[in-house]
Amino acid sequence: MAKVKTSYFCQHCGAQYAKWQGQCTSCRSWNTIVEEVVRKEEKSPWEQQEQQGGKKVSRPLKIKEISQSEEHRMRSGNTELDRVLGGGIVPGSVVLLGGEPGIGKSTLLLQIALRLPYKTLYVSGEESQSQIRMRAERIAPDSEHCYILTETKTQHIFKQVQGIAPDILIVDSIQTLHSDYIESSAGSISQIRECTAELIKFAKETGTPVMLIGHITKEGNIAGPKILEHMVDTVLQFEGDRNYVYRILRSLKNRFGSTAELGIYEMQGNGLREVSNPSEILISQSDETLSGTAIAATLEGMRPLMIEIQALVSTAVYGTPQRSTTGYNAKRLNMLLAVLEKRAGFRLGAKDVFLNITGGISVDDPAIDLAVVAAILSSNEDIAVEKNICFAAEIGLAGEIRPVQRVEQRILEAEKLGFSTIFISGQNKIVPENRNIRVVLVSRIEDVISDLF
Ligand code: TYD
Ligand code: MG
Repeated sequence: MAKVKTSYFCQHCGAQYAKWQGQCTSCRSWNTIVEEVVRKEEKSPWEQQEQQGGKKVSRPLKIKEISQSEEHRMRSGNTELDRVLGGGIVPGSVVLLGGEPGIGKSTLLLQIALRLPYKTLYVSGEESQSQIRMRAERIAPDSEHCYILTETKTQHIFKQVQGIAPDILIVDSIQTLHSDYIESSAGSISQIRECTAELIKFAKETGTPVMLIGHITKEGNIAGPKILEHMVDTVLQFEGDRNYVYRILRSLKNRFGSTAELGIYEMQGNGLREVSNPSEILISQSDETLSGTAIAATLEGMRPLMIEIQALVSTAVYGTPQRSTTGYNAKRLNMLLAVLEKRAGFRLGAKDVFLNITGGISVDDPAIDLAVVAAILSSNEDIAVEKNICFAAEIGLAGEIRPVQRVEQRILEAEKLGFSTIFISGQNKIVPENRNIRVVLVSRIEDVISDLF
């Protein structure tokens, strides 16, 4: 019987200690260190096989001698995912998909597994095969290349992998896996670290891409140690408001592409639909013009998005006026209201102001400031802003209208969607061109007001 060896791990950052202590000296958090059983005399199955088949020792190569695998990205058939990954799945890469429970991680990866033109093994430690079948029936019932396995022990998974030899391996979720070589329970730091290490080794040595699902804690971190994020090649986050149907796929880390890309999905009864033109869904399609709404030309990552802002300004019933926002920073709203009061002479001090960004998404692009102000003034005056006008500018504390980045891209998107006018800052340098959209340059809030109302 091997001697049981224990060690102490910080549940927050994964630092390892020989004995218990109250504070983690690495990440400085308190009471996060717990004892876990570790035993690792034996080799992991992947290493064992490798020894049987003669160990491959890597040797240094000149950069020109290294074969380029960049070209052979595997297209997943899901354009949004391919875009976020930087053009497809890189062979041998390990992708971690994080997200809150119930947001649709399993749905997304199962859907991708079912539609992939490659042989795929979908391993689930969370649901039974018949439950997965039920879900698959709703998404894509006739898949030929997808194998489903319900298993949590990595050694068994690798045995099946040898038999099936899949082109892609998907694991739902990393927190349910456990390896025989570590004695602590599934979901503990040492198990997560060991199982991820085994999967990474498998991916790197066979060139098979591995996609892992990871749960997210209340604070928004991927449960388990931060080192999990350091170990994998790509970290994707699936986010959105569970009460709304739109979901955003973002890349937080990507060794093979930009992290500025993002994918948008709509959750439907039969799985996730890719939204290729997000602006259309975020703007209400009715022809009626109502006061209190204005459209902002924003950028989410690299993608231009037209977003509808709704504001409601009403006389405060109680002494202290209420300010409430959905999808927008409340402090920023207070600042804009102060600017309107001080620099433009609007008496909003005794008014309740409610602000809502439609579609349940939240935006922190400062370029929506001008649209927020336009929506507030429109509600205050009860005069509608025409539906074919949009805005892209930041507002400074002096009431000046400040330039925003990549304004050309925003103008192009607005033009493409049929807007007739866009308001931007006079300080934005744009090349005069023949456009189908009128570009109005403004430098103070007063200019906008005289143009609109
Ligand atoms: P799920 O993928 O299980 O979330 P996660 O793995 O991130 O915990 O999906 C969660 C929700 O998605 C669930 O509440 C039901 C909904 N859903 C649909 O609306 N349509 C569908 O086709 C499927 C499969 C799920
Ligand atoms: Mg799930």
